[in-house]
Amino acid sequence: MESKGHKASAKDDDGKMRLFVAIPLPAELLETALECQRLIEQSSKPCRLARKDSLHITLAFLGDVCERDEQEAKDALQASCALLQDPVRLEPERIGHFGNADDALLWLGLKKDRSMLRLARLLRTELRLRSIPFDEKEFIPHVTLARRAKLPANIPCVPNTKASIAFAASLYESRLSSDGARYRALEAFALPSKDD
Ligand code: 2AM
Repeated sequence: MESKGHKASAKDDDGKMRLFVAIPLPAELLETALECQRLIEQSSKPCRLARKDSLHITLAFLGDVCERDEQEAKDALQASCALLQDPVRLEPERIGHFGNADDALLWLGLKKDRSMLRLARLLRTELRLRSIPFDEKEFIPHVTLARRAKLPANIPCVPNTKASIAFAASLYESRLSSDGARYRALEAFALPSKDD
């Protein structure tokens, strides 16, 4: 993902931006996700791997929002992070999939940590309070690893299930292009650490 301020924002003709809120991956979890991608590359040909700089855990997908709602979304995220007390544990569990066997999306699933579920709930409540629409689908904590994959007979096991602690949650802008989506962090808010 690009970091804040590197490029001008990609507002469309209506002045709207495509936004979502996600947890960026700590270094150790990123390494595990990349190892999973290497296994998938061998087992699930053909497939399109997600870019290393785009790996994340989506908390809420907002879609196209106007400038006023961009600020409201930042406020909602800030409020929900401030209400969270316990560290968010990110513990890899299994590689799973959405979609058909010939055209699947493969993901790294994470254990349903209480504090992570609470953060997703708080964020969604804060968004509703501000009348910001978002995709109401159930929150399934995962990192998308590959798209357009052919499912193997046996999906690989996760090579490392050690938990890491999330350091932040960010509002991201998504820009769609012919070579896939690019994400840019607009604003990040710190999450509780073990020492808080
Ligand atoms: P994912 O969480 O399964 O990877 C930006 O598009 C991010 O928001 C992606 O990570 C994407 O899927 C997630 N997302 C969740 N709901 C979405 C939706 N309805 N449309 C597009 N992306 C969505």
